[in-house]
Amino acid sequence: MRTIIANWKMNPETLQEAKQIWSGTKRVSAQLKRTQIIVCPPALFAPNFTKGQHKKLQVGLQDIFHETKGSYTGQLSPTMARDMDINATIVGHSERRKLGETNELIHKKVMTALNQGMTVVLCIGETYRDNDGAYLNVIREQLMIALANIQRSSLSKLQVAYEPVWAIGATEPMTATDIHGMTIFIKKTLGELFSKDLARTIPILYGGSVFADNAREIVEKGGVQGLLVGRESLTISFIDLIKAVDAIK
Ligand code: 13P
Repeated sequence: MRTIIANWKMNPETLQEAKQIWSGTKRVSAQLKRTQIIVCPPALFAPNFTKGQHKKLQVGLQDIFHETKGSYTGQLSPTMARDMDINATIVGHSERRKLGETNELIHKKVMTALNQGMTVVLCIGETYRDNDGAYLNVIREQLMIALANIQRSSLSKLQVAYEPVWAIGATEPMTATDIHGMTIFIKKTLGELFSKDLARTIPILYGGSVFADNAREIVEKGGVQGLLVGRESLTISFIDLIKAVDAIK
């Protein structure tokens, strides 16, 4: 089973537009054979869509807090999310890291969300690709800290989304060959953290300038089990993107 995550970020501005985008995605989700979709709208809109969820279509959040209740003004609780029938969340997106989230904070969020039984999409990615391979250490550290002491029994709920920051909001994604190289490196690092066999079961997704016309190649040649899509998930072309990925045998 492949996964496509729609990260709407802070878009669109009205619930009416959000409903339109959602209904397009919902329509195509009914025909899917090998793909599940997780739509992550702005948290304020998310509860409007939970009734339409089914096996191949879930609603998720774009971020979550590491405590479940208390004096934390403005934060999103994983238990409250579950109570609203929202069972998935992105954690550690680069746009949140840019606002000051550290690997240590992301670790706490991953732990709490997994303990609450949520599906967690952990985002990792380097901001800059140097010629000496220091970016590999960045990725390694992000994984090692975020996933330290995670219970093996929770791993079935974890997905890792590799999003090189320089490819987000750009015109071109990373090349499929380079994505393949990174998926091997990420699997190897996950193998050190857990075991080779367990690492193999954790889906790796790619994100960063994925569009309807490049999605198929990225999945086929990049060795990834899914995609994390920003801009294109707000457009009508997202339907073609989903169909193109689902058609891959
Ligand atoms: P774009 O698909 O708009 O490049 O955004 C990628 C992203 O950040 C998804 O989380």
